[in-house]
Amino acid sequence: MRLRGARAKSKVNPSGTPPCERTPIELPEPALIAAALANVTRCGMRPWGTHGLAHWWRVRHNGLSIARAMGANPSVVRLFAIFHDSHRHDDGHDPDHGPRAAEWLREVRLSRDSAYGACALTRATIIGLTETDFESLCTACALHTSAIHHVDASVAACFVADRLDLSRVGYRPDPNRMPAPRHVIDEQAINAAIDRERRGLEWIGGREIEQVWGVSVPKRS
Ligand SMILES: [Fe+2]
Ligand SMILES: [Fe+2]
Repeated sequence: MRLRGARAKSKVNPSGTPPCERTPIELPEPALIAAALANVTRCGMRPWGTHGLAHWWRVRHNGLSIARAMGANPSVVRLFAIFHDSHRHDDGHDPDHGPRAAEWLREVRLSRDSAYGACALTRATIIGLTETDFESLCTACALHTSAIHHVDASVAACFVADRLDLSRVGYRPDPNRMPAPRHVIDEQAINAAIDRERRGLEWIGGREIEQVWGVSVPKRS
């Protein structure tokens, strides 16, 4: 995996109320998914492709599994899962897809007309984020393929959540490239993530994607 750049040591919850202990934000996830899929469609990408919905759902699961232990904000994790790969132009090497997703989020936040696919509910959700959470989300999206570590615990958790699903492109998740304590990401956690990826969505909780995100899983041929 080509990763470079920031190596700032990850801190777990450096100050204040642990994000995971805040009241969770009510997120209209089906509307957010619709906005993300509008971008996927616009770019000619496959919604159920390598970097599509099943991957996003596993990233969500991975992130929520580690959020408390890492002091991360689960709402940021859930938003990252939906948007981080929503601006790909290619299923292969597309290093700018993270920065494009972050730029789109900033356009939505500023309510520019160019923020394609953002319905009123999506805009309201993104505009309603605290400055801290919004910056964590944008940073996680922008850097998820170019940085290994990050000082922000929510950003670091997003990196880990995404990298735990790397077996979909032929790589075993490497604990040295995941900014999480070893007791959070151990061999058992990595093997479990690989097993989920191999099963697609046929793992406990996998099919909840239909209820939570309002999408229909295509039948396997
Ligand atoms: Fe990505
Ligand atoms: Fe991803």
